[in-house]
Amino acid sequence: MSRAPDGGIPSILEFTHGLVRQVVRSADTVVDATAGNGHDTLFLAGLVGPQGRVYGFDVQAQALENTARRLQRHGAERQVTLFHAGHEAAGRLLPAGTENLACAMFNLGYLPGSDKQVVTTWHTTEAALRAVMPLLRAGGLVTLHLYTGHAGGSAEAAAVHDFCAALPWDGWRVLRYDFLNKEKNRETLLALCRQ
Ligand SMILES: C[S@@+](CC[C@H](N)C(=O)[O-])C[C@H]1O[C@@H](n2cnc3c(N)ncnc32)[C@H](O)[C@@H]1O
Repeated sequence: MSRAPDGGIPSILEFTHGLVRQVVRSADTVVDATAGNGHDTLFLAGLVGPQGRVYGFDVQAQALENTARRLQRHGAERQVTLFHAGHEAAGRLLPAGTENLACAMFNLGYLPGSDKQVVTTWHTTEAALRAVMPLLRAGGLVTLHLYTGHAGGSAEAAAVHDFCAALPWDGWRVLRYDFLNKEKNRETLLALCRQ
C-alpha cells in the first residue's frame, strides 16, 4: 500500500479502500476490473468473505498468477473467480443473473513490476464501465484510479474524467480525490456512487 504523500492525508489508494470499505458487506458480489498483482482482489475478497463473490479480470497471465498466489497465501481463493480476459468482456463473462453489484474497482495503467507494455485504454475501460454500471445496486460504487505517468495515461485519464463528469446528477454522484499540486505522475481517484 502506498503511503500518504504528506504522512497525514490518506493516499489515493487508502482513500479508495476507505470508500469501498463503507459500501461492501459480507456476502456481496463485486468486480475487480484490473486484478494486477491482486492487492485489490484480496482486499475485496476479505470484505465479501466466503459467502460473497469477487469477479476479477486481467489480460496478462502474469497478473492472474500473481493474484491467484496472493489469494492462496491468504486462504481467500474460494470466493474469487478470475477471468483471463479484458474487462471489456464483463458483459459477456459475468454469469447470467449477476446484479446488485456492490462495487467495481478499476485500478488503471500497467502491471507494477512489468515492462509497462500492456496498459489499460479508454476504449476498453469505457466498454467495461458501460457493462458494469447498470449492474450496480443503489448505493453501489465504481472506483477508478487514474494515472498519468505512463504513455497513454493522460489521454485515458482525460477521457474517463469527461465520461464521469457527464453522468447525470439524477442517478450518480461523482467524487474526485487528488493532490492538485503534485508535479509529476499525477494520480486521481474518481468514485461513482449510484443513487
Ligand atoms: C495498476 S494494475 C492493477 C493493480 C491491481 N489492482 C492490484 O491491486 O495489484 C493494472 C492492470 O490492468 C491490466 N489490464 C490492462 N488492460 C486490461 C483490460 N482490458 N482488462 C483487464 N485488465 C487490463 C494490466 O494487465 C494490469 O495488470
